[in-house]
Amino acid sequence: MNNNTFVGIDIGTSSAKLLLMDENGAVLDTESRSYAISYPASGWSEQNPEDWFDAIIDGLHSLLSKHKKEDVRAISFAGQMHSLVTLDDNDGVIRPAILWNDLRTTEETNFLNYEIGEATLVQETGNIAFAGFTAPKLLWMKKHEPDLFSKIDKIMLPKDYIAYRFTGEHSTDLSDASGTLLFDVEKQKWSNEMLRIVGISEEKMPRVHKGSDVIATLRSDLAEELGLSQDVLVTAGAGDNAAAAVGTGTILPGRATVSLGTSGTIFVSTGQYLPLQNHAVHQFCHTDGSYHLMGCMLSAAAANEWWLENILERDYGLDEYSRSDADKHDVYFLPYLSGERSPHNDEEIRGAFVGLSMETSAAEMSKAVLEGVSFGLRDSVEIIRDLGFSLQDFGATGGGAKSFSWLQLLSDVFSARVYTMEHEEGPGYGAAILAAVGAGVWDSVSDASTSLTRIKDVIEPDEKQSSYFNEKYKRFRELYPLLKEFYPDKH
Ligand code: XUL
Repeated sequence: MNNNTFVGIDIGTSSAKLLLMDENGAVLDTESRSYAISYPASGWSEQNPEDWFDAIIDGLHSLLSKHKKEDVRAISFAGQMHSLVTLDDNDGVIRPAILWNDLRTTEETNFLNYEIGEATLVQETGNIAFAGFTAPKLLWMKKHEPDLFSKIDKIMLPKDYIAYRFTGEHSTDLSDASGTLLFDVEKQKWSNEMLRIVGISEEKMPRVHKGSDVIATLRSDLAEELGLSQDVLVTAGAGDNAAAAVGTGTILPGRATVSLGTSGTIFVSTGQYLPLQNHAVHQFCHTDGSYHLMGCMLSAAAANEWWLENILERDYGLDEYSRSDADKHDVYFLPYLSGERSPHNDEEIRGAFVGLSMETSAAEMSKAVLEGVSFGLRDSVEIIRDLGFSLQDFGATGGGAKSFSWLQLLSDVFSARVYTMEHEEGPGYGAAILAAVGAGVWDSVSDASTSLTRIKDVIEPDEKQSSYFNEKYKRFRELYPLLKEFYPDKH
């Protein structure tokens, strides 16, 4: 009997999630280890890459202790996108990683969009600049930390740094390279012009692979420490959203995923590179070399967690949303607690409740929070529908997808079916699939993803609720233009 197993490791914002999968796609075990985020100044967010590595090694010891180590054939990764890791010429980490939801780069983002110009950015990368992307972070470092900037010998993204620690190779994959704004998404190569603009030479960039490409075998010292064979293969892996798409069967054109993690994303596979007019959503390579569109909001499940834990001071619980008619209410929540990426590209904006009255209850405000996040996601859905994708079905992933009532709300707000997966660990499961494809178990990521990912429950939209939310969404859309007047700096 064949007992090959594969490890998928997801380097998330709040924790590392590890998973062991067999070659039939069954998840044998999972582990997770959390780590801290530091907020050195308002709107800044950083993490220590060493904390990711320590958490992963600790989790791997536990994961592997319960299973036959000799069965492990390959390992791969998923990771938070855009976050900047810089290494010196000894491959030492120069400064804490500046994360995807860090807002310090307003000046650099404006410089890119308005002085370099959106037309050049789109021609060079397929995208415009957003504060969270990697290129503005490098410009910030060049201006504010010139000594540290001059030490940079390698640029890495979070999962690439961990892959480096596992193999000694400096690699990345197509999906994560796309989120740097230094990569020509259409031609699938680093953009010389963008590298010139940020002042980084191409040798400092990692080699770009498909996510299932084997980059090396495990380093011998690590193999020994973990009790694994030195023949264990390591594949490049993918950005967490692309990995979650692999883990939910979202590869073929028109397939879509909604992710409710710290961030919220709408991910739509398109197959081909598309000439776009509207760049409020991103156009990136999928990790297998095809393409996708993605809208990303910065506070999704994080907004609900903030409301329940920090404000109501209750345990984080999700299944509180009731759909009865009597529960309709007129409170709106604008979910811009950390500024907003898609569609507004506005790091200065902040959240708000609107429509409070003497009758407003805490329960209504709790509902408004979930509705506000769902409406924020619908903004991206509408942009992608306008391009001709009907988006009638969404695979759900991320911590928030554990809440059936939130998924029903999304289904009603999107007027689309939302389905859950048998394996709910989207990015980690996708990473394990990339490892299995690299080890030759499957011919292609698309074959593996399509055959291994199985739908569990399908949630249908309720027509009456959908038309109620259509009206409410129209009102929601009127609120951002009013709120942005209150934050005049950016506008
Ligand atoms: C995507 C994005 C987030 C992070 C979260 O563009 O910034 O979804 O990948 O880890």
